[in-house]
Amino acid sequence: MFVPVITLDGPGGSGKGTVSRLLAERLGWSFLDSGALYRLVALGALRRGMALDDVAGVSGLARHLDVCFELDEAGAPAVRLDGDRVGGELRTEACGDAASKVAAIPEVRQALLDRQRDFRSAPGLVADGRDMGTVVFPDAPLKVFLTADTEERARRRYLQLKEQGLNANLPALIEELAERDRRDAERAVAPLRPAEDAIEVNSTHMSIDAVLNEILALAAQRG
Ligand code: C5P
Repeated sequence: MFVPVITLDGPGGSGKGTVSRLLAERLGWSFLDSGALYRLVALGALRRGMALDDVAGVSGLARHLDVCFELDEAGAPAVRLDGDRVGGELRTEACGDAASKVAAIPEVRQALLDRQRDFRSAPGLVADGRDMGTVVFPDAPLKVFLTADTEERARRRYLQLKEQGLNANLPALIEELAERDRRDAERAVAPLRPAEDAIEVNSTHMSIDAVLNEILALAAQRG
């Protein structure tokens, strides 16, 4: 049976994460946060004191990554790494930055490929990432590439971090996001770019609801 996938790719802070989660909820589909897998590999490496450019070590870790996505006691999405609950550290900019370093290693990307494809189950999957439409689910019937200006993305990230009670500095965030985008877009394997058949949505001046409705309308058009 063909299981449909909606892919949402784009740079950090474009709203992909929030929109994908809401979209999956509205459609009653599964949800893949592929960035979390790269963040978990990075966190596992850092916890083991492994250098992020240790190709054999980090890719071995990615191949045997012990993660479990679950709901916490309050019914909110939670994740375990090596059996222990991971908290806000997964969402810090430092972890995002480390994730983008391990994500540039081809062996790490290869190791995570099947794990990501395993999320595809009926009635459908919403997949959030950088290469969902280009590499992981090239046959997805609907591919969206979500962007927004760097300043606006940094502002959103800033508010998100503050809301979680984490430290944030707006000028530093703008720099960090720009640097991470550059690394993601310039890497040799699965660089950040829209799939040829992706629809680009620029969310700079759009609310989350407006983006969600636009994607729902696109999904409805495609049956
Ligand atoms: O989306 P998120 O900010 O959680 O992703 C963290 C990092 O993981 C990205 O900057 C990117 O380098 C990497 N990533 C990737 N491919 C994906 C998802 C994330 O390379 N599909």
